[in-house]
Amino acid sequence: MAIKLVTTVAGLHAESARLLREKQGASQGLVPTMGALHEGHAALARTAVEQNDVVVATIFVNPLQFGDAVDLDRYPRTLEADLALLDAQGVDIAFAPAVEEVYPGGEPLVRVTSGRLGEKWEGASRPGHFDGALTVVAKLLHYGIPAAGLAGGVGLPAYRAYFGQKDAQQLALVRRMVVDLNFPVDIVGVPTVRSAEGLALSSRNRFLSDDEREAALVLSRALRLLEERANAHEPLDLESAQAMVESQPLVKLDYFDVVDPATLEPLAENCRETPFRGEALALIAAKVGPVRLIDNAPLSS
Ligand code: PAJ
Repeated sequence: MAIKLVTTVAGLHAESARLLREKQGASQGLVPTMGALHEGHAALARTAVEQNDVVVATIFVNPLQFGDAVDLDRYPRTLEADLALLDAQGVDIAFAPAVEEVYPGGEPLVRVTSGRLGEKWEGASRPGHFDGALTVVAKLLHYGIPAAGLAGGVGLPAYRAYFGQKDAQQLALVRRMVVDLNFPVDIVGVPTVRSAEGLALSSRNRFLSDDEREAALVLSRALRLLEERANAHEPLDLESAQAMVESQPLVKLDYFDVVDPATLEPLAENCRETPFRGEALALIAAKVGPVRLIDNAPLSS
């Protein structure tokens, strides 16, 4: 394997500086993950490799973003397979630190707060989740800043970080954080990767039984219905799409709404009855058996 595994911040900096120098690199890409990697993560890594001279993927199960210690313990850890997947996409460096490397003084006292945008939708059922996620993303974005002055001697290397559209609220929050707090990085959103049947890939899908997996397809079907209506400039008729999800007995709908893509505020009622024009995001979350799933679809017309 060509990929280099590093577990310390000092090791990451040394290896990234070495590679930038060796490749006369003008850009570095960062792909933050929690491991248990699948084709969705692979798409992020591939996009980063296409767009940058040096690519770092991080693998870190961040305790701060788990409300429940059981969920944290249960989170799958598959380092060997993850390294093979990243290597196959052409990632240069895997940074897989221990908890003590990231939080040497224990849990941080000062944290990023996600504000109003972090309290709605996923934030409503997972209090503190987005504060914990943004706090670690802030740290990971800092670790991944390419060393200055190595870009063939001219200017600073470009710096990009890659996040999945699958976690639309996280992506919106990360975009907001780098604007509000002036992080020197370009955030790149990567479209959701799905199974052939339409199920959005997620590390949680492994907890679905065959019947639940089948039932879960109603989420992407309902989103597709909205996409078709938006493309045809028809009223979105969210109610009938909601009814379609609620008719599936194994699925317990949490929320399903059409929102502004940046603020995640629900669109005005009238867009549901009048022909759809503009940009929006359909967000859905449901429990399928014991597993909570989220999905979304950008709408554009
Ligand atoms: P994780 O769940 O491992 O996801 C890592 C990245 O992969 C995220 O940006 C996520 O949106 C993206 N991703 C997951 N499934 C995807 C799919 N089916 N298609 C496209 N992209 C997908 O998200 C996290 O980790 C953490 O919160 C993290 C940002 C690493 C901070 O701890």
